[in-house]
Formats: sequence, structure tokens, C-alpha cells
Amino acid sequence: MRKKIIAGNWKMNKTIGEAVELANGIKLDLAACTEVDVVLCPPFTALKSVSDVVSETQIAVGAQNMSSEDEGAYTGEICHTMLKELFVRYVILGHSERREYYKENDFWINKKVLKALEKNLRPILCVGETLAQREANETEKVVEVQIREGLKDVPASAYTELVIAYEPVWAIGTGKTATAEQAQEVHAFIRGVVKDMVGAEAANAVRIQYGGSMKPANAEELLSQPDIDGGLIGGAALDATSFAAIVKAAL
Ligand code: PGA
Repeated sequence: MRKKIIAGNWKMNKTIGEAVELANGIKLDLAACTEVDVVLCPPFTALKSVSDVVSETQIAVGAQNMSSEDEGAYTGEICHTMLKELFVRYVILGHSERREYYKENDFWINKKVLKALEKNLRPILCVGETLAQREANETEKVVEVQIREGLKDVPASAYTELVIAYEPVWAIGTGKTATAEQAQEVHAFIRGVVKDMVGAEAANAVRIQYGGSMKPANAEELLSQPDIDGGLIGGAALDATSFAAIVKAAL
């Protein structure tokens, strides 16, 4: 049985004070939650404060991006050592907003995934098609390339550590959720691609989250699908009550 994992992607929201308040609210409800992995991904500037709030709880902290390099002249970047110093355990990589606005491509995303794994950080690799790609029947083709390229050279043994997030771009922040059937179909497809790449054991072990307007009202149905192992939550993660309700839907 794969343990469900619910991660809150706070994106570019919350000052330190606001982040502490939100993390405290979530902690009140979920500090002792062991049945589901709970991860909070605040902006870089609030990582330390949020780590302090959730230290000594079961709640983990994740970053929203990471450099593929170890250190040096990379203005504006943050490396693994800096994240680990703040007790970060997970890192979201290849989010569609980074692919779209900052032109991140599969080559660099793969370098980041490999670096994160090498340094014992757990990547959450995001993949997903745009509306135009879905309408052109290209969903599987697009997602397969993102998986094959993004996870190139990742050994089968690492699939217990990494997480894949299937996030259809047309569902992110739009209020339009993929139906449970649409999501399940792509999740099963992704698991099949992983099986083809590294074998059945890794494919069975890897956790695949759904992301894209997941909220308390639709979480339970999505999370009850056989290949949906959790959620990457944007908007609904900015409210402690909503986020906690989604985690409870995963129980
Ligand atoms: P959303 O964002 O829940 O606001 O759609 C999800 C994400 O981008 O990770």
C-alpha cells in the first residue's frame, strides 16, 4: 500500500508572519497525523520560520524549486545545501508555472531531480498537458516525454523517494478539476510508463499526486482512485481548514 501524500504549494504567497500563522493553523489540526504524509511548501523566505513551527511534528517542509548546481555564481538561485540547512525534505521541480514563465525544460528539470536525489531531498516532479494539447489528443505523448526526460537516469531504487505530480495545466488555479476518471486514466498511464522504464516494483512503489483545483469538495473522489496517491494543492492550501480537510479526505 502506498502512503498518501498531500503537499501544499503556497506559490508566491505569504509573508513570514502570514506563513507562520498558516503553518500554526495546520499544525493545530495535523501535528500528529501519521497515516498521510503532509508537506508544506512555502516560499523560500518563509522556509525557516515554517520549519520552526512544524519541528517536532509529523509535518514536513518542501521548497518550490532548487538549483541543479552545488554552489557558485548563479544569481538568484538556491542550492540543496541551503535547503537542507532549513530542514527541507522535499522539493517541487518542473512545476508548469516554471516551465511556462521561466522556460524550464526537461533537460534542466532532470538535472535538478538527479541532484535532489543525490543529496537526499525528495523531488516532487510535476508533469501535465495544456488545454490545447489535451484537445489535440496529445496528453499521453506530452506526459510521457516529461516523465521519460525528467526521470532519465533515475535508478529504480529511487522511486520510493520521489513523487510525481500529475497537474493538467488547464486545471491549475482555474477551478476546473479533471474528473476522477480523467485523472485516474493519466495516473495509470504514468505508472505504465514508469514500469516500462524501470520495472514493476518501482512503478508500484512510486507515489503519483494529482494537482489542479483539488479542494475539500472533490478531494475524496479523486483520492479514492486506485492510482491517485495524494494531492499537490495550490489555492486550497492557503487556508488551514481547507488544507486539513483535504488531508482528512486522504485518510
Ligand atoms: P491549484 O494549484 O490547486 O491552485 O489549482 C495546484 C498547483 O499548481 O500545484
